[in-house]
Amino acid sequence: MPEVDKEGKDFCLKVPAKNDGFFLKGSNSLDWGMKNRLARIFNPESGRTVMLAIDHGYFQGPTTGLERIDVKVLPFAPYADTLMLTRGILRSQVPPSYIKSIVLRASGGPSILKELSNEQIAMDMEDALRLNACALAVQVFIGGEYETQSVHNMTRLIDMGMRYGMPILAVTAVGKDMARDARYFRLACRICAELGAAYVKTYYIPDGFETVTASCPVPIVMAGGKKIPEIDALTMAHNAVQQGASGVDMGRNIFQSESPEAMIQAVGAVVHENLSPQHAHEMYLDLKTKGRT
Ligand code: R5P
Repeated sequence: MPEVDKEGKDFCLKVPAKNDGFFLKGSNSLDWGMKNRLARIFNPESGRTVMLAIDHGYFQGPTTGLERIDVKVLPFAPYADTLMLTRGILRSQVPPSYIKSIVLRASGGPSILKELSNEQIAMDMEDALRLNACALAVQVFIGGEYETQSVHNMTRLIDMGMRYGMPILAVTAVGKDMARDARYFRLACRICAELGAAYVKTYYIPDGFETVTASCPVPIVMAGGKKIPEIDALTMAHNAVQQGASGVDMGRNIFQSESPEAMIQAVGAVVHENLSPQHAHEMYLDLKTKGRT
């Protein structure tokens, strides 16, 4: 039987209680569990994240570079802060000993053969908690054919997420024929934030991206888009974070790179250490060469 503790004596009367704000933009009024999940996605030191998006199969099947997740992606996945994927790939391919944070794709329905904006909620909050996810991602098609339905998917997930402390990432999906300009992205990102998304994923645009981040009250992560040369992808990531993005959520520009392992480390240096695109590209080439020897 342990001795009963005597009453404490050292109350540190001269040390004021800490009352720090949370490090992420617009997130201070969230609950502890939600903040804790966000702090596993965003590095509290840099305030930024490198998310590796490998969820493309949910509407387009085995995408180039993702044919075998176990062989082609898992070897470099630990360099990401967060893995963004479907629950099917998580359960079937990723070992539970992988301890980096997970963001799960939570909307889906149509394939590339159909109207993509016609999505529904594609997973239950209970399963997301069972899988220890740190956020759920939902596609929002502002201006798309099923705009309202996709916004409603997001708000329903946000309500469920609020109940359990699960952040919702709104992904702004742009239709083929829609203008990709600052005005559009300001509109799309702001709608997602106003309706309660914890953070928003959107595309980089060369003109006015800083107005997109400034007018969105919650963090924005930059989507990668189609494969471009490594130096251009590193420049885009650099510009995005310098213009207010809280990191990146990149897929093809990492897993379709000639050296995904080198590329993800170079992206990480741009995002977390503010490395210039030129230096990051040198780092990429150097790591790529070392990887071959
Ligand atoms: C697309 O809808 C998926 O959600 C991807 O996660 C997203 O497009 C990011 O991948 P990428 O950088 O290849 O565009």
